[in-house]
Amino acid sequence: MRYNTRFWFLFATVLALAVVILPIVGLGQRSQRSTGPSQRRPPIDYSKFSHSTAKHQGACNTCHKIPTKNWQKVATFPDVADFPDHDACVSCHRSQFFKGPKPPICSVCHSRTSPKDDARFSFGNPAAQLQFTIEFPHDKHQGVIATLMRIDNVARAFSHAQRADDKTDPYNNCTICHAPRTSPLKPPGSGWPDGVVPSLATFKSSPSNHASCFNCHFKAQKPTAIECNGCHKLATPYFRVEAPNRISLKFIHDGGGEKKNHVLECTSCHINITKAASLRGLQPDVPITSCTECHNKDGLRLDVSKELAAIDKNRSFVCSYCHTSNVGSLDPPSSHYLIAERPPLKRKDIK
Ligand code: HEC
Ligand code: HEC
Ligand code: HEC
Ligand code: HEC
Ligand code: HEC
Ligand code: HEC
Ligand code: HEC
Ligand code: HEC
Ligand code: HEC
Repeated sequence: MRYNTRFWFLFATVLALAVVILPIVGLGQRSQRSTGPSQRRPPIDYSKFSHSTAKHQGACNTCHKIPTKNWQKVATFPDVADFPDHDACVSCHRSQFFKGPKPPICSVCHSRTSPKDDARFSFGNPAAQLQFTIEFPHDKHQGVIATLMRIDNVARAFSHAQRADDKTDPYNNCTICHAPRTSPLKPPGSGWPDGVVPSLATFKSSPSNHASCFNCHFKAQKPTAIECNGCHKLATPYFRVEAPNRISLKFIHDGGGEKKNHVLECTSCHINITKAASLRGLQPDVPITSCTECHNKDGLRLDVSKELAAIDKNRSFVCSYCHTSNVGSLDPPSSHYLIAERPPLKRKDIK
């Protein structure tokens, strides 16, 4: 452990407080046991770390360092790829660190608890509960990425870089961060609706690590890498849901027939994304008018009109060309009737 000035200051403060307070209230553990049953608080679970605990809300860099010592083993760029060291904790948790043969606090970071074993969980394990959400303003980055670097240099610099001959070349630079998926998605808890297992070509990915941020946000551009809270905002703990909550699950990004008609400029469908100042409540926001140029045109195909007509004949008809039944069995929104140049209707009003 390296002891810096802050550590000594903290240590001295804790020690001074302890000298004054401990004789009065007795050691934490003992005072808990001696309080009457009516006042007994639930025992503290030292195997789960919470960023919401008041004393854990110091500056992020009091615990997190960058780059961590292990970065070369796990990343291709200087990254925060490991848990904080012991010195980030012992100043306050000496008694939990030296408690019995298997102190619970070790399992915040270690997969095996032993004074001889340093095996740790992977830091930022996606299967664990997350305490932070990401902040990413699409609007501020739109121009930036195009101006700061020439697009092909950017593309090459990123790990998700596309091949030059790929038809999904980085339109609007979006593919820097939203490449086609390379591994299948975990289905939602309730399974895929109607058992429709989407192909790999269906979804776009989103950043899952720092590879698409730290080449700009390292030392110069704010938030810098060590300013974790510039991008990570404290939230109610949650489990990551991998599968996007789609309205049109059947839509395949790299699909649209043999000729991959769906591979178009991203913003021709995601018409508002470049104006989005925040991720909060952000949705793909794709209007049906970006489909109907091809899917509801006389002489070409009339997918929307045909399904609307099917409802006229049978009000419990389930629309299944673009949707699964969770959406296709609802009332068609007025946007759909507008495309078919018809006044809106509710299923219950159909005889
Ligand atoms: C008192 C020490 C401490 C401080 C201060 C601290 N962290 Fe952490 N952080 C940890 C520990 C320990 C873990 C691993 C345990 C866990 O995942 O909860 C962690 C994990 C994380 C993770 C990965 C898991 C997740 O919940 O997404 C993120 C992101 C993170 N911290 C961000 C921050 C940010 C942002 C700040 C500053 C606002 C911060 N931390 C301040 C100790 C700290
Ligand atoms: C500035 C002092 C301080 C530091 C530094 C600190 N803790 Fe704590 N921690 C506390 C206090 C105070 C509590 C509240 C419970 C208690 O009184 O022990 C707590 C509670 C906890 C708990 C119980 C669950 C929770 O989060 O409330 C865990 C686990 C824990 N700390 C782990 C750690 C780890 C791991 C580190 C180092 C990465 C760390 N703490 C750094 C003061 C600190
Ligand atoms: C906040 C996360 C965290 C907690 C809690 C923690 N460790 Fe560690 N531990 C680490 C990290 C990170 C390293 C690697 C340090 C390095 O590479 O310098 C490490 C290293 C070790 C090592 C290797 C030798 C050394 O000291 O560097 C042992 C043994 C170890 N820890 C045991 C424990 C035990 C036992 C506990 C509980 C009393 C514990 N650790 C609690 C993060 C933690
Ligand atoms: C520098 C990285 C970056 C760039 C460039 C970028 N995005 Fe994003 N985008 C993100 C992040 C991070 C999220 C949040 C993902 C999450 O919540 O899991 C996101 C979210 C989205 C979402 C919402 C996804 C959902 O699940 O609801 C859409 C749609 C989207 N981006 C489209 C675009 C388009 C179109 C472009 C190009 C104009 C673009 N993005 C450029 C990083 C980027
Ligand atoms: C032809 C229209 C169209 C084009 C072109 C398009 N998208 Fe999408 N995108 C959609 C639709 C439709 C959805 C799903 C919306 C829903 O059903 O909720 C979606 C969803 C997304 C999502 C959320 C994850 C997912 O796959 O469901 C991201 C991220 C995204 N698009 C990024 C992009 C990027 C980056 C491009 C350009 C390379 C792009 N899109 C091009 C129509 C399009
Ligand atoms: C090509 C370089 C580049 C990349 C890649 C990049 N950023 Fe940025 N980012 C910038 C610049 C430049 C600004 C300042 C824009 C402005 O203020 O108009 C910025 C601003 C921000 C801000 C807003 C800061 C504020 O003061 O409001 C956040 C948050 C942010 N970026 C997060 C991210 C995340 C998360 C990623 C990765 C998913 C990322 N950025 C990728 C260059 C980049
Ligand atoms: C410029 C923005 C930015 C900064 C600064 C930043 N992060 Fe992240 N971080 C992200 C994005 C974007 C992701 C991927 C999206 C997600 O996990 O939801 C991510 C993912 C993570 C993960 C999980 C994935 C992984 O790489 O293992 C951890 C852990 C993490 N960050 C911790 C930190 C800590 C600790 C700091 C400060 C030392 C920090 N981050 C600083 C944007 C940032
Ligand atoms: C060509 C593809 C396509 C067809 C065919 C289609 N839809 Fe849609 N639907 C969309 C798109 C894109 C959206 C999102 C934009 C909107 O709300 O207009 C949407 C939105 C919806 C919504 C709103 C969902 C929400 O959560 O906001 C409902 C309900 C819906 N459709 C029902 C239907 C029904 C019922 C039919 C059959 C008559 C149908 N759709 C046919 C593409 C289609
Ligand atoms: C540039 C024209 C074009 C646009 C725009 C377009 N599509 Fe398609 N789409 C096609 C073609 C062509 C097919 C192949 C039809 C066939 O083989 O029967 C197709 C096929 C599909 C299929 C069947 C699965 C597949 O990929 O083969 C679905 C579902 C679909 N489109 C939904 C949508 C939705 C939803 C939108 C709007 C967000 C949209 N399409 C926008 C041309 C387009």
